[in-house]
Amino acid sequence: TPLHVSDLLTLRETVTAWRAAGETVALVPTMGALHEGHLTLVAEAKRAASRVVVSIFVNPTQFGPTEDFSQYPRDVATDLAALSGAGADAAWTPDVATMYPAGFATRIDVAGLTEGLCGPLRPGHFSGVATVVTKLLNQVRPNLALFGEKDFQQLQVIRRVVADLDMEPEIRGVPTIREADGLALSSRNRYLSAEERSRAPQLHAVIAGIAGQVRTGGPVAEPVAKGVSNLEAAGFSVQYLSVCDATSLVPVERVAGPARVLVAAYLGRTRLIDNVPV
Ligand code: PAJ
Repeated sequence: TPLHVSDLLTLRETVTAWRAAGETVALVPTMGALHEGHLTLVAEAKRAASRVVVSIFVNPTQFGPTEDFSQYPRDVATDLAALSGAGADAAWTPDVATMYPAGFATRIDVAGLTEGLCGPLRPGHFSGVATVVTKLLNQVRPNLALFGEKDFQQLQVIRRVVADLDMEPEIRGVPTIREADGLALSSRNRYLSAEERSRAPQLHAVIAGIAGQVRTGGPVAEPVAKGVSNLEAAGFSVQYLSVCDATSLVPVERVAGPARVLVAAYLGRTRLIDNVPV
């Protein structure tokens, strides 16, 4: 079973001892409720470094006032058991007072990348993510940190922060792990009713279809409009569906280089996001 660490001093001593022994360290930041997507990041981390730290922290600052912070699934015992099976060396589980002690006043804001897609729909979300990930990287000081492409805008935001602030860790993206029917694994899938769950794979089917249609450089507007109406007909409430440059996340009218089809939609009360490469 992984070492279970909740205070910063012990974390620092543990990682410093590993480093002094010539080991390399990978960090996998999570909010717990671990599933095969998270465990794939851990497996990739184990291949890339001799020691793996998984952080579990449900970060209050990245949830909006009407979002599911208080309902977010928390089960550290189950998560530790899963991490034991996956071969993680340490679980870093700070509490809110450790992360945000009285007087905490610093926030990292990324311009540009956060102005589209989920940014305007979740004010403050990416600032909360950028700040907590910066703290986690400074606490653990890993050689490498791994993030899922499932949260593609988050991954690009973190790459931007690390480059802009001259931080040392390598940031590695890992392709999205999906159910057999295409639905991207997510801790929020458990909120879906059986009937919603049966319709949920359409989200991936529609964006994969669009990716296939736009890859030869034709206009994206019509496939995108058709995709939105197909999703709405299937009972989704679409927040955005866009074809964007894969690095800047600026929407494109035609695909001329690496691009991504990204979508956010409600199915009932559950907000789902997904994306695929073009
Ligand atoms: P969380 O939603 O727990 O996700 C932790 C990591 O797992 C993220 O990098 C996410 O992209 C990745 N992940 C989730 N589902 C995945 C899937 N189906 N396939 C591959 N990777 C997947 O993302 C967060 O937590 C937080 O914002 C965090 C970065 C920890 C900051 O609080």
